[in-house]
Amino acid sequence: MKLLVVGSGGREHSIAKKLLESKDVEQVFVAPGNDGMTLDGLDLVNIGISEHSKLIEFAKENDIAWTFIGPDDALAAGIVDDFNQAGLKTFGPSRLAAELEWSKDFAKEIMVKYGVPTAAYGTFSDFEEAKAYIEKQGAPIVVKADGLALGKGVVVAETVEQAVEAAHDMLLDNKFGDSGARVVIEEFLDGEEFSLFAFVNGDKFYIMPTAQDHKRAYDGDKGPNTGGMGAYAPVPHLPQSVVDQSVESIIKPVLKGMIAEGRPYLGVLYAGLILTADGPKVIEFNSRFGDPETQIILPRLTSDFAQNITDILDKKEPVITWLDEGVTLGVVVASEGYPLDYEKGLPLPKKTDGDIITYYAGAKFAENSRALLSNGGRVYMLVTTADTVSAAQEKIYDQLKKQDTTGLFYRHDIGGKAL
Ligand code: AMP
Ligand code: GLY
Repeated sequence: MKLLVVGSGGREHSIAKKLLESKDVEQVFVAPGNDGMTLDGLDLVNIGISEHSKLIEFAKENDIAWTFIGPDDALAAGIVDDFNQAGLKTFGPSRLAAELEWSKDFAKEIMVKYGVPTAAYGTFSDFEEAKAYIEKQGAPIVVKADGLALGKGVVVAETVEQAVEAAHDMLLDNKFGDSGARVVIEEFLDGEEFSLFAFVNGDKFYIMPTAQDHKRAYDGDKGPNTGGMGAYAPVPHLPQSVVDQSVESIIKPVLKGMIAEGRPYLGVLYAGLILTADGPKVIEFNSRFGDPETQIILPRLTSDFAQNITDILDKKEPVITWLDEGVTLGVVVASEGYPLDYEKGLPLPKKTDGDIITYYAGAKFAENSRALLSNGGRVYMLVTTADTVSAAQEKIYDQLKKQDTTGLFYRHDIGGKAL
């Protein structure tokens, strides 16, 4: 069987690498991928994620059994609908099902309608109304651009003034373009954040180990929000009862709701949750795997990944098994300056072998050699599994100390909350 993965980051590297380990898989293509992936035997296809008809043509010509869609913007652009219309199978939600991610207002409506616990909120396209709401509710309060904004459209405001300024930026100054034409303003929730992922087809779902991302750029959760600087799974201090409660009060009703709305969900559902004093509540839904969470969840999968996805697509009961001991932890290495401006073209350390996996995100071969150079904000990630969080940290940080990371940076406290 030959498979195609759409996307180019560390998430897609880990999905494709895991698929290639599957028994019946001879070849995995990644479009457009990045050069670092080829070190793991993956084949790159030089087609962008928005070129649906070229991707479809490639999948047909190469007998692709099914295509795994990585990024949110491809899903929001209806890539799954286009593939399906061409008679091709994909693992990912339709545009209408992916609206759970691409419109925060839609996600909120679904949650309210189907009784899923989440922060109280209001949606506004008029600045004066938004301002009045903020003034009435008081601070702290959270202001979010309605649409996709690469994780940057959220302002957790500590004062009313900050919140009003954020609403002004989004609604009047158009700082987030169309995604900020409407804002969702919501109650500040206090508690520990974690992510819960599930493979889904309709009302059938298969929960993955819990994960915790580190979204801020610098140690101690300081600095700007990023795509994610490191993660670990499972979260050792979250009791199984919290997972069970999240499944009952969040995963089950939202999937039922999506069916009732005529938008049955297929693909990976990502629930960003916060454990409040009143139990787990939803911060956001994403309609795809997380990056960097995928890179620390998939190494824990002990069953045949491609077979699992094939079975889920065919509505057969998959046999999904996970490593049930130890912790998998990963640290992202990014270009200095990320998430703002950064340089490209810095030489990268050699790929690690053995029990530390290197996943590449922004990496590219030099013009005349196979030396890898940096080519993006997040560049690569080191991932390992050990008995405890501190043992995993030690392995990764020892390795990073040996690497020349000039011009790059990473956080030194990934997994720290679990200690
Ligand atoms: P999001 O892009 O929706 O995941 O939000 C980015 C980050 O903002 C989250 O990871 C949280 O740390 C924070 N956040 C979002 N919504 C809330 C909320 N209602 N209460 C507290 N923190 C929040
Ligand atoms: N790690 C956060 C995300 O994938 O959205």
